[in-house]
Formats: sequence, structure tokens, C-alpha cells
Amino acid sequence: MLWTLVFSLLLTCASANDIVLPLLNNTKAVEAFAESAEVVLVGFLEGEASLGYKELLAAAKTVGSVPAALCSVKEVWADYSVSTDTITLFRKADNHQENLVVANAEKLDTDGLVNFITVNEVRYITEYDQVTAVGLFNSGVKTHLVLFANRSSEDYNELKEKLGALAPEFMGKFLFVLINGALKSNSRSLGYFGLKSEDLPRVGIYDGNSDMKWLLPEGDITVERVRDFCQSFQRGELKETKQAGETKAKTEL
Ligand SMILES: *[C@@H]1O[C@H](CO)[C@@H](O)[C@H](O)[C@H]1NC(C)=O
Ligand SMILES: *[C@@H]1O[C@H](CO)[C@@H](O)[C@H](O)[C@H]1NC(C)=O
Repeated sequence: MLWTLVFSLLLTCASANDIVLPLLNNTKAVEAFAESAEVVLVGFLEGEASLGYKELLAAAKTVGSVPAALCSVKEVWADYSVSTDTITLFRKADNHQENLVVANAEKLDTDGLVNFITVNEVRYITEYDQVTAVGLFNSGVKTHLVLFANRSSEDYNELKEKLGALAPEFMGKFLFVLINGALKSNSRSLGYFGLKSEDLPRVGIYDGNSDMKWLLPEGDITVERVRDFCQSFQRGELKETKQAGETKAKTEL
């Protein structure tokens, strides 16, 4: 509780005058900071003069959705297996720590860091595009609960919020992915499930371990139905059922 308060104060200060990053002085402070948002950045950097500091400050400001802080205490770095200046992204959806070692970065500028952040910004529910696809497919969690919806439709935000709230129950088991089915660039993803844009909204599971997919039967998309669907998958009960869009998938392959 106390830490949450300290951090909300720090975050408020940081956004009020974006001149410096808040300081994290011990492991407890880093832990609390990582807990404070779905995705955060910690600069494990020697100090404000280090290469990467200014860039981190600027990139975090550009992205806007990912809080950033500085930790210069080397005893703390060890707890995160960091030994040299490193910019680290912590995210909750798959409990992942992504390191960018400053000395190994080909070119460390603000644009490069913005790219590092956006690629790895996997959330409890992540909107699919060419950039987030990289982070999604690099994750250790290979099973996706996919929500296909038309962004211009009235229920889009409601569905996103409902399933986004369910996602933490399946942390580390599923990544929840939202695909805007009205976009032409996403028609291949729809086709893979045997869907057309007028069929939406629909929910499916893609399992990257077995390269198999299933569709939740048509009907209201409720939290209960989606939870059951995920749990059925986990119990192995979907394995025997007919796969989604089978004929379509075959003709494509
Ligand atoms: C962290 O340590 C620095 C330097 O000792 C100090 O100025 C700062 O107030 C400390 N921050 C917190 C949150 O304790
Ligand atoms: C998406 O929804 C909007 C608003 O209902 C509609 O006008 C549009 O045709 C839909 N797009 C597709 C590809 O179905």
C-alpha cells in the first residue's frame, strides 16, 4: 500500500515535469514499480549521464503508455541478472523480463528505443498489428485467445474490456489478442479461422505448440463462455473436436 502511494507520487512528479526519471533504490522498490502497471521500463543505468538515460526518458514520453524509472544500485541489478547498463522492460501478461543491454545495442537512439518498447508492449489484451505480432510470437506463451471484432462496431470496446479483465486469470497460459477484423491486412488471420468480416465478433484459440485452432461456437461472447472455452482447452477437451475452418485451411496450405 505504502509503495503504491510512493509510486503514484513519483509517477505524478515524473509526468508533471518530465526532466528526470523516478529513482528506485532497492529491490522492493523495483518490484513495486513493476507491479504498478502492465508494462514498465527500468533503466538499470549507472546514472543520469549514462548512455541510454536521455533516450529512455524521451522514448517513454513518446510512447506515453509505459512508465519508466531509473535504478543505479548495482546490488539491486544482481537480483535481475543485470551486470552492465541495461534497459529492461517488465510485463505482467506473460511475466516476462526483456533486456536491452546498452553495450550490445547496435544504435541506441530514441527511435530505436521506441521500437523496442512497442514491439515488446504485450498487454493482458494486445491489439494485433505488424509491430505487436513480433512481441506476441516471441513470447514464451504460445497459446492465443483471439477475439476477432470490427473496430467500428459498437461492442468493440466493451468486448475488449470484458476479455481484458478475464485475461489475468490465464496469465502465463494464454495471451489474449484482439484482431480488428474490418482491416484488409487482417483478412488472412480471419481466413485461417475460416471467418469473414461479416461473421464478427467471434472468439478462437490458436495453439502455437500444436499449430491447431478452434472457434468458440456462435453466440453471445460472455466472460463465462470464454472462460469455459479456455479451461476446456487446458483440460485437453478441445483436442478431439473438429478444428475451425478445416476445409478452408487445407485449400490454403
Ligand atoms: C534514492 O536515493 C537517492 C540518492 O541517495 C535519493 O536522492 C532519493 O531520494 C532516493 N529515492 C527514494 C524513493 O528513496
Ligand atoms: C464494421 O462496422 C461498421 C459499423 O457498423 C460497418 O460500417 C462496416 O461495414 C464494418 N466493416 C466490415 C468489414 O464488416
